Amino acid sequence: MNRSSSHQLAENLLRFLRENTDCYYTPESLAAKFSVSINDISTAITVAESWGYRFSYSGLKIRIQECPDLLTDTELQYGLSTKYIGQVIHAYRKVKSTNDIARELAEGGAGEGTIVTAEEQTQGRGRLGRQWHSPSGKGVYLSMILRPVFPPEQAPGISLLTALALADTISSCCPGLVQIKWPNDVLVNGKKTAGILTELSADKTTINYLIVGVGVNINHTTGDFPPEIQQIATSVAIAAGYPIRRVPLVQGFLAAFERMYEQYCRSGLQGFLSQLRSYSSLLGKEVTLNKGNKTLTGIARDIDPSGALVVACDNRLITVTSGEVTVVKN
Ligand code: BTN
Repeated sequence: MNRSSSHQLAENLLRFLRENTDCYYTPESLAAKFSVSINDISTAITVAESWGYRFSYSGLKIRIQECPDLLTDTELQYGLSTKYIGQVIHAYRKVKSTNDIARELAEGGAGEGTIVTAEEQTQGRGRLGRQWHSPSGKGVYLSMILRPVFPPEQAPGISLLTALALADTISSCCPGLVQIKWPNDVLVNGKKTAGILTELSADKTTINYLIVGVGVNINHTTGDFPPEIQQIATSVAIAAGYPIRRVPLVQGFLAAFERMYEQYCRSGLQGFLSQLRSYSSLLGKEVTLNKGNKTLTGIARDIDPSGALVVACDNRLITVTSGEVTVVKN
């Protein structure tokens, strides 16, 4: 049996054993089930152990004991409750950027909901040309391919929606500590924990595809961040005070996102405004923003139904649709 078929057998075996964790199986019965030899089964088990799976034995019989917290196809699909978001998964150990791979897949015709995950990114990209530090096994680095039928003007709302799905998901680990810094940073205890990079391919009236790239700091310690962002970045584990399993968190996010995305396609942001306002870290605060080549200061007043930030500056209300907004006073 060559390497790729023993990997395939390991995946099939894991899928089967995951579904049946309360029974022990003899190597003979597994060999018969998968129409392979007993030797092939033992090779597949060695492969699975090298991926971090642990088995328990009763005599020669075997069952699964522990699954690794890896963002692989096998782990993410087991227990995923979505209809199409994440039903096709391209999982990598190390890539330059999951957004780049997602774009190539989208160009090649990959369907709506296809996701790309990686354990590590060597050239993770953030907004405004920044880097997204993506150390191995610590975070979630994930890109989703969407093919909405709404017009390109509605694309920016998807970033807000993604931030909302992330905020709800992260709140399950650290309730009451999560905020959204418009347009799409997720903060925990006032420090950045997640960011979203949405990239659009469209002509004037039609979206070809949207790539929604999501980066979440999950199990980082402060020392895992580069010194220049240690004061402004945090992770879910730092805030929660315990290590976080990434797989259920990602599954929860994908399910929350799918629900919200369907509602957004039907009726836009309207139904999300009150949640967006209550998560907002900016509303009521004095902020600065760049408009054209000017820097303006004002009070952030609202998020409007198009997702824009409304800022009161010199007795005028300014609608901000993109860019960086910074709080000047708390
Ligand atoms: C930001 O806050 O500036 C956005 C960060 C987005 C990072 C994610 S990680 C997965 C995807 N791949 C990338 O290269 N970037 C996004």
